Amino acid sequence: MSQNGTVENVTINIDGQDVSVPQGTNIIEAVKMVGKGKEVPHYCYHPKLSVAGNCRMCLVEMGMPMKDRATGEAILDEDGNQKIGWMPKPTIGCATNAAPGMHIKTNSPMVKESRNGVTEFLLINHPLDCPICDQAGECRLQEFSAEHGRGYSRFIEDKNVKPKRTRLGPRVTLDDERCILCSRCVRFSKEIVDDDVLGFVDRGTYSTLTCYPGKELENNYSLNTVDICPVGALTSTDFRFKMRVWFLKRTNSICTESSVGANTEIWSREGKIYRITPRRNDAVNDTWMTDSGRALYKAVESEDRLTHYTIGGVHKTPEDVASAAVDLLKGGDVAMVASAHSSVEEQFYYKAIAERSRAKVSLVSHYGEGDGLLQSEDRTPNLRGALLTGLIDQLPEAELSPLARGINSGAVKTLLVVNEDVTALGISPDLLSKVKVIYVGTHTNDTAKDADIVIPSLMVFEKDGTFINQTFRLQKFKTAVPGPSGIRPDFMVLEKIAAPLADEKPAAVTLDEVWQRIAAKLESIQDSLTWRGIPDEGIALEPGALVELPFAETKNLKYDPVAFKEAQSAPAGA
Ligand code: SF4
Ligand code: FES
Repeated sequence: MSQNGTVENVTINIDGQDVSVPQGTNIIEAVKMVGKGKEVPHYCYHPKLSVAGNCRMCLVEMGMPMKDRATGEAILDEDGNQKIGWMPKPTIGCATNAAPGMHIKTNSPMVKESRNGVTEFLLINHPLDCPICDQAGECRLQEFSAEHGRGYSRFIEDKNVKPKRTRLGPRVTLDDERCILCSRCVRFSKEIVDDDVLGFVDRGTYSTLTCYPGKELENNYSLNTVDICPVGALTSTDFRFKMRVWFLKRTNSICTESSVGANTEIWSREGKIYRITPRRNDAVNDTWMTDSGRALYKAVESEDRLTHYTIGGVHKTPEDVASAAVDLLKGGDVAMVASAHSSVEEQFYYKAIAERSRAKVSLVSHYGEGDGLLQSEDRTPNLRGALLTGLIDQLPEAELSPLARGINSGAVKTLLVVNEDVTALGISPDLLSKVKVIYVGTHTNDTAKDADIVIPSLMVFEKDGTFINQTFRLQKFKTAVPGPSGIRPDFMVLEKIAAPLADEKPAAVTLDEVWQRIAAKLESIQDSLTWRGIPDEGIALEPGALVELPFAETKNLKYDPVAFKEAQSAPAGA
């Protein structure tokens, strides 16, 4: 490390090619930096866990420039180049850090022979049942056996027989025979979740993964062990045997469970979601996500979904409901209950609607207990979006008492509610019956049932958009599956309401055009930014004065409120 705290680069030679890598990078990561898909095969190494060095699959040849021990002078060959002293045995790449002048061979005959031997040992007791294994298609053992194995077995003895379906917890099932004892799941539980529940019992080929007596793998991160298990030993009890992974389409998305905004991938086929897994983003969630966040897609097929535009309970077109909503909003005395579950684009429209109908906007808080990792206290994905778009200018309250008083006094005659059940937030059904209600939401509730106008909206899996997370990171999500038949993206319907309120003709807007308007209006957004231009890993926005608000989140995996605030107030370049 240099004096100013930055990591210095060192040059090493990998298979004859000089590569500059940050000092301390291990050889597995250094080889990845060569690019062109080059990699050192490995099982037990994981970039976010401690190094165990137990699978031996990452063996490489390593050498260092030779020096005379007595004088310290470089020893040169006949061409005048410094000689390389190669280690007589291969070394594991995961536990070897790059040092200046280091030479690495990843494809020498010795390395190939080593991988071949390791693969043969691993397959001795591993069942050869890939055709019926749930991991097929994403199994590192399957891939590396094809690439580095010998292609036939010399083992004629009987394989060990172990239990095939062991319940490790409510969501994880273990096939003991497939475990290659890499200990990734053990290290994850201990190091990341601080739930030291897994371990090995028995010795040699009888070693078996198990939970400590009387305990289960039941923490809210248990399914990450399934993601990182390099073979088919740990499976998701919910997903196993439901679908072959090569049939599934992967779509980048954002977890809506809390303000962390974990980056995710939605796995779907023919309009149906089968599972959600984490997507690596070192600024947000590393490679992890909660189990509860993975289950959110189940609400897509809920019987409570709102599937029709209605006025007075009668099915209508989006144009009809938009025009009826405009009539009500133009009548004045409007209040709006907005949502931190809406996307930035939707909030931008709600802000315009509120301005044009002179509506007072309330937003309700949804706070819970944070777990210090990836479930923050704020259980909404886009509170920062509501603040940054100017939809609200202070943190939300838990109830709607001022609004209740407004309705009671007759000051509010029309209420636009977005995705909230206001009857559970201090506005009784009797009170609600005193106003005209326009409800916009994904699922029905007591407010929707009493609403005069219902505008069904799409869930995060069914539309494109953006959220702003706890660190003011703008992150985009994409459409994974189509929404209910006939339901349009919310911003298209909102355009039909917002434009006539300003006596304008609604335009056939695209998300990129909405972003041109957002960028033109909001200082914290670059003028040239389009929705397509937002990178998959997101963009850090300037919170400005908003950073001073007393947000509910406490320290979690990538957010430290105190450090974040300090960093924002530090002068640029400090
Ligand atoms: S269950 Fe999977 S992750 Fe855990 S030790 Fe076995 S192979 Fe490794
Ligand atoms: S990855 Fe290096 S020993 Fe397993």
